[in-house]
Amino acid sequence: MAKRTIVAMPGDGIGKTVLDEAIRVLDAAGFEADYVQGDIGWEFWCKEGNPLPDRTIKLLEEHKIGLFGAITSKPKDDAAAELDPALRDKGFVYSSPIVGLRQHFNLDICARPCKTYKGNPLNFVRRGVGNTIEEPEVDVVIYRQNTEGLYGGVEWSDPPQQVYDALMTHPKFVKNFSHVPKNELSISTRIFSKNATERILRAAFEHARKYGYRSVTLCEKPNVIRETSGMMFKMAKQMQKNDYPEIELWNTNIDAQMMWLTKNPEDYGVIVAGNMFGDIVSDGFAGLIGGLGFACSANMGEQVAVFEPTHGSAPKYADYPVSIVNPIAMIASACMMLDFIDEKPTADRIRTAIAEVIEEGKVRTYDMMKMTGRPDVIEKGAASTRQMADAIIAKL
Ligand code: NAI
Ligand code: MG
Repeated sequence: MAKRTIVAMPGDGIGKTVLDEAIRVLDAAGFEADYVQGDIGWEFWCKEGNPLPDRTIKLLEEHKIGLFGAITSKPKDDAAAELDPALRDKGFVYSSPIVGLRQHFNLDICARPCKTYKGNPLNFVRRGVGNTIEEPEVDVVIYRQNTEGLYGGVEWSDPPQQVYDALMTHPKFVKNFSHVPKNELSISTRIFSKNATERILRAAFEHARKYGYRSVTLCEKPNVIRETSGMMFKMAKQMQKNDYPEIELWNTNIDAQMMWLTKNPEDYGVIVAGNMFGDIVSDGFAGLIGGLGFACSANMGEQVAVFEPTHGSAPKYADYPVSIVNPIAMIASACMMLDFIDEKPTADRIRTAIAEVIEEGKVRTYDMMKMTGRPDVIEKGAASTRQMADAIIAKL
């Protein structure tokens, strides 16, 4: 079979370190690929006025599959101040390149699995009957709509007159906001389209069917947010009835769901939600299985897919002489890439190796040792990023 080409986008800070380690693990597992470097991140903003250069977009158009580390993002004004002086006042405006990638390629389906590793000291525990301690096994996959809703970017402060006039046609706006001066209004919209809602729901149900999950839980707030959440709930019911009768559809509200995380997380299977609520509930579940060092994700569109840990560039650790961060989130994201390109047996071998290292408990990064991240954690017995990857490779 022809060798695949993967667009490797390290980005900034620890993104570079963890991506290198993930590629070493992929090599060791016998996955044969060529990696081309995709420039992305802060360096390219400062030097070129664009954190997502066109050449990177072209590489993804050509090769379709990307592995992404993490980027550093800063507010607009701070970003402008760090731009190369030769580029200042030329109209360059900073915006996050990973959000840009999701939008450019319409990577509308985001999957974030959260599965307990046996023996992980960071696993959530709770008190059971008679003061016992229980460690529920979490095995959840969150499907998050990735391009619309509150992150769709349709927002204004002091909205244009036409927008204001349109809002004034709504009785609730007249009642609650018409006394506020227009220039004191800030508006962020939550727009759901039927097509994108259908796609995320179907992806969730398909995942449940393929991997044998009993239920799909829609985690929104249809009783209050009647139009968007309401439409999603109606469509989910219809889809379940017509196409997935063997799978149960559960409906929870995002606020109650967050409370139930610590009560019965083992009861849930596939969760599906809009952009914002999906982001919230996936971070919540990630906290139960070890946090950012373990949280992996996939961003999938019809043409292109990009796989990334959900953590950021952790700038405070970026310049440590020996990197201390946990590479498992990145390596597990690379496994999701392998699943996606029909290399699941290789992905499963890597996941088994990760599970063995964690269960054995000899090699643990600082987060797993419950230490505060500082350069001296290595002296105190924490594994470095490289040592963790080496331990996984040794199991392979
Ligand atoms: P962050 O995820 O970089 O770090 C938050 C905390 O989690 C850090 O204190 C670090 O101790 C810990 N952490 C993160 N990754 C870890 C790992 N692999 N192993 C062990 N501990 C880990 O988020 P923060 O500090 O809010 O943001 C830093 C920069 O990253 C910002 O510029 C932010 O905009 C950007 N960011 C980028 C994301 C992306 O590229 N998708 C996502 C989130 C933040
Ligand atoms: Mg998040």
